[in-house]
Amino acid sequence: MSDSELAATAQALVAPGKGILAADESSGTIKKRFDSIDVESTEDNRRDYREMLFRAEGAGDFISGVILYDETIRQKAADGTPLVEVLEKQGIIPGIKVDLGAKALPFSDGETVTEGLDGLRERLAEYKGLGARFAKWRATYSITDVLPSRNCIDVNAHALARYAALCQEAGIVPIVEPEVLMDGDHTLERAAHVTGDVLQSVFAELYREHCRFEGLLLKPNMVLPGYSAARQASDAEIAAATVRCFRWTVPAAVPGIVFLSGGQSDESSTSRLSEMNKLGPHPWQLSFSYGRALQAAALKAWSGQTGNVDAGKAAFLHRARMNSAARSGSYTSDMESARA
Ligand code: 13P
Repeated sequence: MSDSELAATAQALVAPGKGILAADESSGTIKKRFDSIDVESTEDNRRDYREMLFRAEGAGDFISGVILYDETIRQKAADGTPLVEVLEKQGIIPGIKVDLGAKALPFSDGETVTEGLDGLRERLAEYKGLGARFAKWRATYSITDVLPSRNCIDVNAHALARYAALCQEAGIVPIVEPEVLMDGDHTLERAAHVTGDVLQSVFAELYREHCRFEGLLLKPNMVLPGYSAARQASDAEIAAATVRCFRWTVPAAVPGIVFLSGGQSDESSTSRLSEMNKLGPHPWQLSFSYGRALQAAALKAWSGQTGNVDAGKAAFLHRARMNSAARSGSYTSDMESARA
């Protein structure tokens, strides 16, 4: 695949009014989500739940791509149609999580490095055959007074760039996800400093490893005060700090920044993205690649009952529509009650 085809896919993923649904929860994470609604995490239940989201009528108006987990990209809908085909019929691009998780970093203070590079070239070729056109790899960093360490920042940046280069070689658009976790009591300023350090290191490695910036997307955290910080910040302050941090560190050649929600409430995730877009135009599209903030309401409305599938779809479409409005900075909280 040529550089221009990679760039075209990356641009399609951040098309105006659209964003990405992260539905790539690992087996452990989806079990936690199902535990919260008292539903057993069986292969059929996972299929039914995800099929409900993927079949929501008109989802393709707001959702450009869906990130799948290894099990899901191989799964068929109840009627035998491959789930990848269900997405394609909606005009939605299938993607795949390819990292194998964050593992303890030796000789560190509880930090992690994300694994999954061994055999990745072969796995990417297989996923391409199964219909994946983009991929995701997530690294995580914790903030304390002394962390993240330089070592944690460097090893994860290196792995993210190795992954991104292999994806581009395979004709797959890499979503590069360095997530600075917002647990703790740090200030907004400290979050901006750490996020800036992490991004600067990630882009230096991507450059060194010859990645095509036009053919990748960045999936970062928003810059937030720690969830237990004494002083929280307004959505406008968060938007200003986040945009400033990215202007300092993310090259203009990158077509889009697609945020993770990271434990923010559904409405905060939407409102803060909208505030950022109000500050535009920006060099890159500012969009979403939410997991929890797109799914929490739908999961609850469904609660594992076939009779609730329409309610689950409606809850998902509502959040998708709200985030679509945030893409142009036109979201307002009174839109929450005007449910179609
Ligand atoms: P959240 O939006 O729930 O943080 O999930 C996004 C994601 O894909 C994390 O890797």
